[in-house]
Amino acid sequence: MAYGQFEQFIRNMSRVMGTVNTRLQRDLTLRTRVARRFSMVETAQLLAVDTTYLTRISAEDPAFPEGERRGRERTFSPSEVMLIRAIIGSNPAAKRPYLHWRRPGEPVKVVTFGAQKGGTGKSLSAAHFAQYVNLHYGLRVGVIDADPQATVSLYFADETLPLFDAETPTLADFMGVDDPGAQDISEPSGEDLDRIWHNTPWPGIRLIPGGANIQNGDISLFFMSRQSGVPVYRVLKDAIARWSAACPPRTSTDYIRGDNGVFDLDAYQRALHETVDVIVIDQQPSLTLMQLNGLVAADSVVIPQTMKGFDLATLSTYVSNIGEYLEFIMGFESDIEIGGGAHMVLPTIVQEQNDQDTDQILDLYRKAPRDVLQVWYSRSDAIANAAEEYKSIYEYLPPKTRRASAKAFMTNANAVNDALVQRIWPDLPPRDYAKTFIEERWS
Ligand SMILES: Nc1ncnc2c1ncn2[C@@H]1O[C@H](COP(=O)(O)OP(=O)(O)OP(=O)(O)O)[C@@H](O)[C@H]1O
Ligand SMILES: [Mg+2]
Repeated sequence: MAYGQFEQFIRNMSRVMGTVNTRLQRDLTLRTRVARRFSMVETAQLLAVDTTYLTRISAEDPAFPEGERRGRERTFSPSEVMLIRAIIGSNPAAKRPYLHWRRPGEPVKVVTFGAQKGGTGKSLSAAHFAQYVNLHYGLRVGVIDADPQATVSLYFADETLPLFDAETPTLADFMGVDDPGAQDISEPSGEDLDRIWHNTPWPGIRLIPGGANIQNGDISLFFMSRQSGVPVYRVLKDAIARWSAACPPRTSTDYIRGDNGVFDLDAYQRALHETVDVIVIDQQPSLTLMQLNGLVAADSVVIPQTMKGFDLATLSTYVSNIGEYLEFIMGFESDIEIGGGAHMVLPTIVQEQNDQDTDQILDLYRKAPRDVLQVWYSRSDAIANAAEEYKSIYEYLPPKTRRASAKAFMTNANAVNDALVQRIWPDLPPRDYAKTFIEERWS
């Protein structure tokens, strides 16, 4: 038979792969997840306060974490940074907010990272964005991995998470479309949906991991779309609405201190895990029905995009295909609310040494100043090294020889994320990272 050889090849490889250890580097990373610590100066910078102020609070408030002391240096884990933020932010004498959690009644924000082209930095941009708003604003983040490759999951998972296990629920389960044979969407309750999120080692960041059964979602949705009247494009939007109605923000910042003004560690822990302030979706490079759901559910869409000519051609097919889908959806349901927030193209892996990439950005920006960010991700060796260990630049501990390039890339990531935050949450206090980047590049 014509497929005989291929079948044998597949069988053979399946057997071999069953005996190969694919886990070595992964296991090391998962065991040491978020080993990164922040010095007093770095912590003060994340909180946008003076180091002297931070030192004073550390002496005054008994809830202030000890951190780790080595010689004269005192360092804090991301969880301790969050705790410090909560201590300062809940202080009745605080002059401004530090913990920018959404208040009771405010809707959860959904930000989707998607593009047609593979390898443009979608997953890394999504991971950096989630970690940046967590570290700089204390936001609780739900990361949804919409990619069967599960790349962004690898940036958040620790060893407690059974990644690549057929039993681990994915986005398809969250949407109730995990069974291709089913006639209808299963519509899990808000409480069931809440159980699908996994805690991660990042404080207040939760994850719905990616995995192969996301493809079942596509098959399911396809069959359901053959029946008339099933709005297969808004299944995720509806699931998020059900989850968010069951798990709203209940605690406002002042409730994490008792009437006596003492910081209440239990109340803080409960509040940290009661909901999320923003959902970040990392898409696979395509426009399947599952990915369409990620776009329709979004308040804001970020398109990380490389600037080479052929790559930009994928951007034009991507946006024109989305346009056609939207037209179809509007015809189906004219009053649906889609994408009420800001949307933007984020140039990525930009080679600044030659002018081609930057000229391309300039040209795009001139034509569409609201839609194209002035801040971009430059190509960096440091991140390639970090990515080998499945670590973001906020987590990566570079060897001595790479410290300078890692620091430069962190500055770059801060600038990108500061620009994204300003567009997505115009009310949050900006940092000057984006401004500095623009002054340096655009003057
Ligand atoms: N600024 C950068 N400089 C150098 N390498 C980068 C940069 N950004 C991303 N990369 C590398 O490019 C590769 C793809 O990145 P990433 O996984 O984030 O892209 P993606 O768009 O999510 O890919 P996919 O389409 O497969 O989902 C990774 O190996 C990453 O390390
Ligand atoms: Mg990806």
